[in-house]
Amino acid sequence: MNNNFDTQKIPNHVAIIMDGNGRWAKQKGRLRVFGHKNGVQAVRETIEAAAEIGVKVLTLYAFSSENWSRPKKEVDTLMSLLAASLKKEFKSLQKNDIQLRAIGDLQSLPNKAQNQLKEVIKKTASNNRMILNLALSYGSRTEIVNAVKSISKKVVNNELKIENIDKKTINNHLYTFSLPDVDFLIRTSGEQRISNFLLWQIAYAELYFTKTLWPDFKKQNFYDAISEYQKRERRYGKTSEQIK
Ligand code: FPP
Repeated sequence: MNNNFDTQKIPNHVAIIMDGNGRWAKQKGRLRVFGHKNGVQAVRETIEAAAEIGVKVLTLYAFSSENWSRPKKEVDTLMSLLAASLKKEFKSLQKNDIQLRAIGDLQSLPNKAQNQLKEVIKKTASNNRMILNLALSYGSRTEIVNAVKSISKKVVNNELKIENIDKKTINNHLYTFSLPDVDFLIRTSGEQRISNFLLWQIAYAELYFTKTLWPDFKKQNFYDAISEYQKRERRYGKTSEQIK
């Protein structure tokens, strides 16, 4: 690694919106699915790079709840890629002590992907160097709606008093209940929006947008992003003097 990072300032939780696979393929005169296939290599590099510098949680936006409305062939390819990659990368996750988790409406995934996912999640459950959290069929607003429903049920059943509902209560009912807040959000491909990703969890995250298309995102691109993160001053509403 050529980078000298401040080991005290490594973001605990990094979240990435992996965008630009389709445009990458188009630039090469290929079909969109070619971009997704090449995106898998970028996923691999990013996982390695994050684990190497001591990131504790890496959440990747692999498939949004809105992505279901893409052409069927593209959706099918993404689902097969997911199942195949999980199968292929399982050994490397074990070797690197990485725990797999997933958030989203996982029941809507095809059986093959679901089973593969369950198996790897189960087998890697005791790994603890880094958590790799895949957002699959994920939508943040639906996540919040579901949280509101479960909290309301508890109120109706007298398990919870309205006056005791606080930020922690909401947090504890999200898919990410056991994870720390996001410190750093990266989006590739030049788009500058959040696209219904971790709306609650990014409240104080630093945002980083790069023009690099996802299949071109290599370890060094990840390190460049981390260097930028380390230059930011996270004030959480306070003044610069207060946090020094
Ligand atoms: C966005 O590019 C990318 C996706 C919707 C899918 C991301 C999936 C992978 C990188 C491969 C499989 C993942 C795992 C975890 C093995 P886009 O299609 O929106 O690109 P565009 O904006 O240029 O059209």
